[in-house]
Amino acid sequence: MNSLFITVEGIEGAGKSSNIAFTESLLRSHGHDLLLTREPGGTPLGEELRELLLGHTHDGMHDLTELLLMFAARAEHLHNKILPALEAGKWVICDRFTDATYAYQGGGRQLDTSAIATLENLVQGSRRPDLTLLLDLPVETGLARAAKRSEPDRFERQRLAFFQRVREAYLQIAHQQPERVKIIDASLELDLVQEQISNILTPFLAGRA
Ligand code: TMP
Repeated sequence: MNSLFITVEGIEGAGKSSNIAFTESLLRSHGHDLLLTREPGGTPLGEELRELLLGHTHDGMHDLTELLLMFAARAEHLHNKILPALEAGKWVICDRFTDATYAYQGGGRQLDTSAIATLENLVQGSRRPDLTLLLDLPVETGLARAAKRSEPDRFERQRLAFFQRVREAYLQIAHQQPERVKIIDASLELDLVQEQISNILTPFLAGRA
């Protein structure tokens, strides 16, 4: 069977971790050889860049530095890990990818989206995810969930308005690319969220998508 490149997106507290674990077990139960990975990160260099990006050592980092480091980590990750896995016939589940850059750096930080598109084309060529699961929920609900977890990282310290712009940017991408980006109502109970994910994945698992 052909490989499939799946990404999972959403604001903080959207439930990415538990729903990625669910997606992973669903795909494994259908016999797929999987690579489970994340951004920023996924390679030794990428994980070091993640620490710089999310930690508080460089709280005053310029927005453009942040954008370029995201794409530096992505270049390493895509070319040294994701593409080789896809070429080997694996299905890839990636926790965040370039939609996060449009949402956080484009929407949240309000950087020029055409600059993001230029970097996207440079780093990725024509490669895009085959399927993106967007876990969507009201920002207040997500942030309240996220607040129950560990110390806030550099992004989690942003204000409500930042995450509202992030959410809107994600939804805009989904409306522009409905074939690829599927909106999931992540405000519901976990079993109902998982039911939506199963319904979206069924045609891919049956080889009909
Ligand atoms: P998380 O994957 O653990 O949720 O944390 C990653 C953080 O990095 C999250 O706040 C979103 C942010 N991020 C960006 O701002 N731009 C990006 O391109 C990516 C991949 C993540």
